[in-house]
Amino acid sequence: MTAPVIELRGLARTYPGPPPVPALRPADLVIGAGDYVAVTGPSGSGKSTLLHLLGLLDSPTAGSYLLDGLDTSKLPDRDRSALRGRRIGIVFQAFHLLAYRTALENVLLAELYNHTPRSTRLQAAAGALGAVGLGHRLDALPTTLSGGGCQRVAIARALVNQPSLLLCDEPTGNLDSRNAASLMELLDQLNSGGLTIVIITHDAAVAAHAGRTVTISDGILSERIRAGHG
Ligand SMILES: Nc1ncnc2c1ncn2[C@@H]1O[C@H](COP(=O)(O)OP(=O)(O)OP(=O)(O)O)[C@@H](O)[C@H]1O
Ligand SMILES: [Mg+2]
Repeated sequence: MTAPVIELRGLARTYPGPPPVPALRPADLVIGAGDYVAVTGPSGSGKSTLLHLLGLLDSPTAGSYLLDGLDTSKLPDRDRSALRGRRIGIVFQAFHLLAYRTALENVLLAELYNHTPRSTRLQAAAGALGAVGLGHRLDALPTTLSGGGCQRVAIARALVNQPSLLLCDEPTGNLDSRNAASLMELLDQLNSGGLTIVIITHDAAVAAHAGRTVTISDGILSERIRAGHG
């Protein structure tokens, strides 16, 4: 049996004070390969704290986080970064693209240095942009793309190293409703292809795309079981 993509055992994060902020109370959660999970909750409830932990951008103050069966809590920083590069793609509300680089260059720059020839890396970057529907805009600068287009470039950048997990923090937060709907269609399509997705959102329409919804309230994580999903 293969290990779940994510397994949290009493994972917690308290920011040092004073006064200390218990942003995430000890949480247990299992996310399997191909799952599509929405994380909702009021502002300040701990959603981004959870996402930063899942993305190995931050370390827990208690508990453990197994990624693809590997206990990340015991790894030195260098190994955690390497693991993030290979296994995790992250997309934020603000697209964080380099303004003076083309779509292709933005994606190419995210590729891991693994002695692959440049032509192969270019092909992978172009392929990732093709997969998000931007195969015809490889040379476009972010300023010439819509918000939806920019977020697609950010998704291509997140996926170019073929991670097992895509984490999204309010990916539609800066998009109008038409671009948001189209972006959610893309995420649905990627999930149908087998990609595991965790998406933070305030928007019930966005959360409805996911098969599971996890809610955080004052740092306490709980799962809302929906009819038809168990
Ligand atoms: N680096 C930090 N140091 C101290 N406190 C922090 C830090 N980051 C977040 N917090 C606090 O931790 C709590 C959870 O914050 P978090 O950013 O995870 O919430 P959120 O659910 O993502 O909110 P939003 O919906 O506004 O993005 C809040 O009380 C916040 O003020
Ligand atoms: Mg947040």
